[in-house]
Amino acid sequence: MTTPHKAAMAEVIDLEIAAPVSSAPPKHVQQRFHVKSFGCQMNVYDSERMGDVLTAQGMAATDSPDDADVVVLNTCHIRERASEKLYSDIGRLRQPRRDGSRPTIVAAGCVAQAEGAEIAARAPAVDVIVGPLAYHRLPQLLQEARGGRVIDIDMPAVPKFDALPARRIAQASAFLTVQEGCDKFCTFCVVPYTRGPETSRPAADLIAEAAALVARGVREITLLGQNVNAYAGGLSLSGLIRELAQIDGLARIRYTTSHPRDMEGAGGDDLIAAHAEVAKLMPYLHLPVQSGSSRILKAMNRAHTRDSYLATLARLRASRTDIALSGDFIVGFPGETEADFQQTLSIVHEVGYAAAYSFKYSVRPGTPAATMADQVPETVKDERLARLQAAINEASLAFNHTTIGRRCTVLLERPGRKPGQLIGKTPWLQSAVVSLPGAVIGDLVEVEIVSAMPNSVEAVPCATTQSPV
Ligand code: SAH
Ligand code: SF4
Ligand code: F3S
Repeated sequence: MTTPHKAAMAEVIDLEIAAPVSSAPPKHVQQRFHVKSFGCQMNVYDSERMGDVLTAQGMAATDSPDDADVVVLNTCHIRERASEKLYSDIGRLRQPRRDGSRPTIVAAGCVAQAEGAEIAARAPAVDVIVGPLAYHRLPQLLQEARGGRVIDIDMPAVPKFDALPARRIAQASAFLTVQEGCDKFCTFCVVPYTRGPETSRPAADLIAEAAALVARGVREITLLGQNVNAYAGGLSLSGLIRELAQIDGLARIRYTTSHPRDMEGAGGDDLIAAHAEVAKLMPYLHLPVQSGSSRILKAMNRAHTRDSYLATLARLRASRTDIALSGDFIVGFPGETEADFQQTLSIVHEVGYAAAYSFKYSVRPGTPAATMADQVPETVKDERLARLQAAINEASLAFNHTTIGRRCTVLLERPGRKPGQLIGKTPWLQSAVVSLPGAVIGDLVEVEIVSAMPNSVEAVPCATTQSPV
């Protein structure tokens, strides 16, 4: 997109002065908060943790921003559209309610980090601006905000994790951030600027946090990091996985997102071997390739090529034959020709992804690709995205078909559309619809997959004597 970022923002920001906060006494004594999460799973983890911080202050969570005293918008800066959502939400929240009140508005996350000063200038209704590395200071910031807006977008030396209260999650599947930040500097990406340098949490802290989660009933833990396979917190990622696998009651371990370059060569050997050796490690890997063209990968500064990526997948498949693969793709990176794009389509066919996410390249101010020549017209990006998504859907359906007849476990997560149905995840991260009388959310049930749709499979209970995956 060639539209300058700031001009595009001006379309969605209303520059009127915010409605004054009412001095009317609150209707409820206990203060309520609502956290809205945008963007990646690391933001989901942070949103949960901000909830823990506010709960520890005696506040209560509410599902609706309309009856919240504090609304936290945990934002994402990865693409222009993701950033714009902050401003449209602020526009709604600053409207006075029937009783004249409005909530205290907190802008958190990656837009806050990248554009803190801009938010302050253009959205006067925002009371607190806090970056992803500083939110443990929320109680203090809310206190200070009574005297006027506060901004905290420091990248503090003392990690936030040490200052956070215990987790209160009550779900079967939980995220655990093990590493934060990024040193890779792909030329299209803002993350190194919004999350700072790559830092790993000490393995001992993570093992303790995981054990506490399991004691609360968590059965599946997904280890998170922007480059989680570069984890180095006293143990390597595979070492950490092997330790976590010792925790009784923990049934499944996953990790995301991995960078292909840290999986290449001897560096990836132990993690690839763990897929064969650690039964609790699920047979699924999200390994974003971004493009099938080595020329574009070079311009993206990805430090892997099409061939080196395919070689890594071959090693993974040799280690764990049923491993399901997913990826991310960007179409319309500057200079991408139809021939480059054809290579992206062909890699989708060649790999046979179980799932993949595809995006139109979005100009991010301050990143090297923003000023590269040969920006691709929006209409071309639209058309390539449609073709890529068709190829991905075809691959997902084909993958789901290959799983028909497999016996496996499903971790039940939510109710299905029809009465008696529950939806959960298979080991290959497919959504599985299961009808199983007596089963409840949080159960890990044994099933057989009986039919496949593009985005889900149907499974029936199995009385098996073999042990399922
Ligand atoms: N650390 C991960 C991905 C983090 S961002 C990795 O390296 O793979 C998630 C995805 O957003 C990226 O994989 C990429 O496909 C997409 N993305 C990042 N910046 C983008 C941009 N400027 N325009 C479009 N998509 C982008
Ligand atoms: Fe962004 Fe690249 Fe880092 Fe992933 S590896 S977060 S795409 S800079
Ligand atoms: Fe978005 Fe920040 Fe995650 S930019 S993708 S929320 S690290």
